[in-house]
Amino acid sequence: MKVGIVGVGNVGATVAYTLAIQSEVSELVLVDKNLDRAKGEALDLTHGVPFIPYVSIDYGDVTALGDVDLIIVTAGAPRTNESSRLDLARANTELFKKLIPSIDAVNSKALYLIASNPVDILTYATIKFSGRSPERVIGSGNVLDSLRFRSLIGQYFKVEPGNVNAYLLGEHGESAVPIWSEAFVGCTPLRSMEGYDKKDMKKIFLQATSVSKEIIDLKGSTYYAVSLCIKKIVQAIYRNKNKVMPVSTLLTDYYGISNVCLSVPTVINRRGVSRTLKIPLSKTEHKLLKNSANILGGVLDDLGLRVE
Ligand SMILES: NC(=O)c1ccc[n+]([C@@H]2O[C@H](COP(=O)([O-])OP(=O)(O)OC[C@H]3O[C@@H](n4cnc5c(N)ncnc54)[C@H](O)[C@@H]3O)[C@@H](O)[C@H]2O)c1
Repeated sequence: MKVGIVGVGNVGATVAYTLAIQSEVSELVLVDKNLDRAKGEALDLTHGVPFIPYVSIDYGDVTALGDVDLIIVTAGAPRTNESSRLDLARANTELFKKLIPSIDAVNSKALYLIASNPVDILTYATIKFSGRSPERVIGSGNVLDSLRFRSLIGQYFKVEPGNVNAYLLGEHGESAVPIWSEAFVGCTPLRSMEGYDKKDMKKIFLQATSVSKEIIDLKGSTYYAVSLCIKKIVQAIYRNKNKVMPVSTLLTDYYGISNVCLSVPTVINRRGVSRTLKIPLSKTEHKLLKNSANILGGVLDDLGLRVE
């Protein structure tokens, strides 16, 4: 599979490295508005090729994306702890308004995987600006948030985080919803685990949703864990895995939620989004998910993005 990465800053360059060393992507094309940066990253990665599974690494502007199968978009101003959700949404939507049609002019078929923030808004914007069917545009959404959530639960109960099944759904951001009612450690419902404490679980949720702010304060941006999430989504696509992941996707009557992109359990394969899965929700979880959808819908309306 040939993969293009648009925006090779902290996240894009780390995604390129992760895909190069750990996956079966055969060709990578690095694109950045700063062509020197794209060239520098391509050269640096290329020098490691004798020590990794073979991958051809090219660089260029958007015209280099003509024959790629998947376009990962990591371009854009990063989230800072000062900028509001709406400020960032406005700035990066303006960027996407020009970027996506310029990509489409050379490639109208590739799948899109969006990681730029706010990812739910930009996933919706990409569907609108590219005219792709919604199944062909995936947002990395809460794959990262759910990974953090699972890691923290695993640490708390002293079990391998891979054995924890738990989702943060909804917005990739402040209104994310913890699905406690369907969280499991192995096959044991979380609430039946020895040592379960509701207050501690609430702290875990708050930590999972605020840790990106802490990392941004500490080192400016986050890029390692998200790159591993993107690699997992890419593998689900090229291996046609039908893997269930909490990615951001356009919803149509998901428990009454429509015309907004947010994260719910979604089956991913070679064609993109195969379908969403209806996880049983408690009344509170349903209310919180609706609230998250309303918040995101409000941003889409403020930006004049909503298509009826
Ligand atoms: N979804 C997630 O879980 C997640 C996690 C971390 C970061 N992010 C997001 O990823 C994005 C990138 O973050 P970063 O830390 O890599 O930022 P960065 O500033 O290091 O990199 C952004 C890159 O995009 C390039 N760029 C900007 N406009 C472009 C255009 N029109 N065409 C091509 N390239 C362009 C810049 O030159 C730069 O190299 C941000 O929006 C950030 O919030 C998302």
